[in-house]
Amino acid sequence: MHSIVFHIQKGGTGKTSCAGNTAAGFARRGYKTVLIDCDQQGNASSWFLTSPIDRELADVLTGAAGAAGALVEIAPGLSILPAAPLDGNLTAFAETGLIKNPKAFEFLVVGLAALSFAYAVFDCSPSFSQLERAVIGSADEVITPLTPEYFSMDGIEIFTKELARIRKAMRRNIKHDKIICNMINRSFSHHGAFYENLKKLNYRIFPVPQDTRIPKAQVFHQSIYDFDPKTKAVPAFEGLIQAITEA
Ligand SMILES: Nc1ncnc2c1ncn2[C@@H]1O[C@H](COP(=O)(O)OP(=O)(O)O)[C@@H](O)[C@H]1O
Ligand SMILES: [Mg+2]
Repeated sequence: MHSIVFHIQKGGTGKTSCAGNTAAGFARRGYKTVLIDCDQQGNASSWFLTSPIDRELADVLTGAAGAAGALVEIAPGLSILPAAPLDGNLTAFAETGLIKNPKAFEFLVVGLAALSFAYAVFDCSPSFSQLERAVIGSADEVITPLTPEYFSMDGIEIFTKELARIRKAMRRNIKHDKIICNMINRSFSHHGAFYENLKKLNYRIFPVPQDTRIPKAQVFHQSIYDFDPKTKAVPAFEGLIQAITEA
């Protein structure tokens, strides 16, 4: 199993949208995939789920439930390990449970691999608390989605420094060679200029166009693959998925 976190400490860059659509793309290719909602706000869960849940990620992390008991299948080959946005259980785990069980996410990854998932995709909230550090520290790879704006350059620098600390603390070389430049609109000259600057960094850059079908699909509880497989963002996600799967 290959585990990937979509993260940057900034909000609204498309972490949830990229995580969910990439996970859907893996499943489309026949890879058994799980999307893990590690954001206390539960955006990925409210995107893909239409009925209330019995068990959630926090139950698995505390040991109150096994991973298999909390998974919900949302498309063929695609499951979600959800977070209920309003109950505060994940926040409580982050504040107290994680101190008692700092390896909770490492155990979770082992448990998911045992369920024969090929890909585990983690969606995190836009911060760098102990929770996000623990998620990143347990993963094989982290991909940073950012938007084409001036402050994103600082954002990627801050992220890289934090990641170096996590790698050192965990004594693991968590891969970070991909940046998603999300919501690119080529009719804005500053987007083009930002993209050219980004290409000078030592990363593989994956541009994802501004595409209204991304938010629209979410309203209908679907990935873009199910909502409109011909929409312009799909080839962009396919490029990213190809790069991940061929590695
Ligand atoms: N490429 C895109 N084009 C248009 N809208 C997008 C795109 N990516 C994300 N969005 C929208 O932008 C908003 C923020 O995205 P989201 O994935 O929630 O970001 P984050 O998880 O980083 O906070 C959402 O409404 C989402 O639907
Ligand atoms: Mg999000």
